Amino acid sequence: MNFKKRTNFLFGALLLTGSLLAQNVCVSTPKTSLVLSVPEGGTLRHLYYGNRLSEADLQNISAAEANHAAYPEYGLNAPVETALAVKHADGNMTLQLEVLNVTTEKEGNAVTTVVALKDKVYPFFVNVCYRAWQDADVIESWTEISHQEKKPVVLNQFASGYLPIRRGDVWLSHLSGSWANEGVLTQEPLTPGMKVIKNKDGVRNSHTDHAEVMFSLDGRPQENTGNVIGAALCYSGNYKLRIETHDDEYHHFFAGINEENSTYSLKKDELFRTPELALTYSNEGLSGGASRNFHRWARLHKLAHGTTPRKILLNSWEGVYFDINQQGMDQMMADIASMGGELFVMDDGWFGDKYPRKNDSSSLGDWVVDKNKLPNGIEGLLSDAKKHGVKFGIWIEPEMANTTSELYEKHPDWVLKASERDVVLGRGGTQVVLDLANPAVQDFVFGVVDNLMTSYPEIDYIKWDANMSVQNHGSQYLTKDNQSHMYIEFHRGFEKICQRIRAKYPDLTIQACASGGGRANYGVLPYFDEFWVSDNTDALQRVYMQWGTSYFFPAIAMASHISAAPNHQTFRTIPLKYRIDVAMSGRLGMEIQPKNMTEEEKALCKNAIAEYKTIRPVVQLGDIYRLLSPYDKQGVASLMYVASEKDKAVFYWWKTEHFCNQHLPRVKMAGLCADKQYRVHELNRIDNVPLNYEGKSFSGAYLMANGLEIPYNHKVDYHKQNDYSSRVLYLEEVK
Ligand code: DGJ
Repeated sequence: MNFKKRTNFLFGALLLTGSLLAQNVCVSTPKTSLVLSVPEGGTLRHLYYGNRLSEADLQNISAAEANHAAYPEYGLNAPVETALAVKHADGNMTLQLEVLNVTTEKEGNAVTTVVALKDKVYPFFVNVCYRAWQDADVIESWTEISHQEKKPVVLNQFASGYLPIRRGDVWLSHLSGSWANEGVLTQEPLTPGMKVIKNKDGVRNSHTDHAEVMFSLDGRPQENTGNVIGAALCYSGNYKLRIETHDDEYHHFFAGINEENSTYSLKKDELFRTPELALTYSNEGLSGGASRNFHRWARLHKLAHGTTPRKILLNSWEGVYFDINQQGMDQMMADIASMGGELFVMDDGWFGDKYPRKNDSSSLGDWVVDKNKLPNGIEGLLSDAKKHGVKFGIWIEPEMANTTSELYEKHPDWVLKASERDVVLGRGGTQVVLDLANPAVQDFVFGVVDNLMTSYPEIDYIKWDANMSVQNHGSQYLTKDNQSHMYIEFHRGFEKICQRIRAKYPDLTIQACASGGGRANYGVLPYFDEFWVSDNTDALQRVYMQWGTSYFFPAIAMASHISAAPNHQTFRTIPLKYRIDVAMSGRLGMEIQPKNMTEEEKALCKNAIAEYKTIRPVVQLGDIYRLLSPYDKQGVASLMYVASEKDKAVFYWWKTEHFCNQHLPRVKMAGLCADKQYRVHELNRIDNVPLNYEGKSFSGAYLMANGLEIPYNHKVDYHKQNDYSSRVLYLEEVK
């Protein structure tokens, strides 16, 4: 057995248990262990994933646990679900992988373990890789597939990873939805048969189902108790998650690129690297462990600038839509500056020369200023921003074009289109997707950002949108026999562009927007600072969407804006106080025409922005505790964020239903330090009188055992009363 240990490391111990054939590898994070059996010349097997094991338990783990192939391959046990299925160059459809060796290497705060496998007969190789973070309880697993057969090998199935979950009463939590209704939480028991969660959009992969799931291992999911495995596929393209509850009653979980219409022809010596599947384990429930583990890992390792608090911004979209002009932008900048905001983002509608962008039917691709709308150009906007003391950001949709554009006239061969077919068009009746497999197109898309940034280095923020699916299966760049590579090559191209942008512009803030929440995934987040949760800014619906999204993504990544009433998507009229209180639970921004607001409304927002600046580090960098779910239909939803020192916390309470004298449950707090005393201060107060406990202090023990009585309604003048009610309480340790 060839165990290569490249460096010493603290947690990722290799455990040699007795004979060579019984050798185990333990991949560990501070609180978790994943144990594999790696017999040389035998099958790589999964033994255990759970709480970190003691040395003593590790010794005997093989005797206690069932074992399953850790990366099951197709061919010689054909009836079971598999992670990998290929057709060899000679037509043979089987694989039989044996362990060659194991290597471990410490890179920064992670220990990477690679188990090298080889087919017993064919020169076909798979590295099964595990990256165990030492400052976050997350293990990423992926595979590297290669061969030295004479002709290409066809990959029919190529999952990133497989995990046997366990037998019995296991519940799945996952997100689904649609445009303007993203992040809807579903919780269901796993039953015999196959549960498949997949995406086929081609460009955006989180509008509908999400590539992240949680398994509650002790039956019905609990937020703060119970054992949970969380899994997130770090990929921006089509994915497929499969959970097979087999006749052995085990729940077998597979995750990877969706191989449908994407068989991959792998050339000799080419390396096919599957995207990472991030795993976490906790015995503190869904929000207790799994969400906080994901959030911590995201902030430290997976999200651009994950530990830098975000600016408070005004985005122009719902305020003016395409009606951009110099004076209007100047007025919006003045307004957001006067309310204490820090950044103004000009959305769609600013570009196009031959074809000015008046609506969504033209101009994508022509990233030059529309001089009729903006005679002083971006320079003028930047100087206005400087005058008002705010930063400036800009909207682009660089992966796309309209057929009505100078770009399309010059390069009709740059768009995805099936040969022999007319191109199918998207948004506005003219939108097309650029063929990111094509290096010339990659250069162009990189150039969109590069030209803006070299011409106007003061640009602080880019909103990167993507408003169309792949509707045409056809790359005009790839060869005819490689058309099944289109989806994979699109996302490789996308990633290469993102890498180039980040290499040159590491400090730029970039938002991933894709018709709202179409790009909330860990494949894009290394390159983006945040995502737009949804095009739906209705505060009540946002309580539900942001609740679901918080399962996997931290508040710092979730853009949440105060918008107008009636809401532009639901037409619901929600009072400003409630809209503010919901937006303040994510990355706060505004998306409204300030000139249509009353002075009183502006004053409320100004106060909220000032208060948000105080709580921003707690919301954006703190630990989430979800307390009462809107999905439980108890008339109220509540969550809180607690600073890592447990000296500060923010408690949110939103009424979700409105019936006279309806009883609402009292919400117990969580995550505080029992021994500390916390002073309570209500933020965004609108009531004529303060809460009874305003300024008073309580022990963490009391607040966690009892919570505080929250009045069901606001005590305001009669003409201001309405059916909505919400509270934000700031708790600060009294020293
Ligand atoms: C879709 C986005 O989600 C919106 O926020 C806005 O930017 C529009 N596109 C602009 O066309």
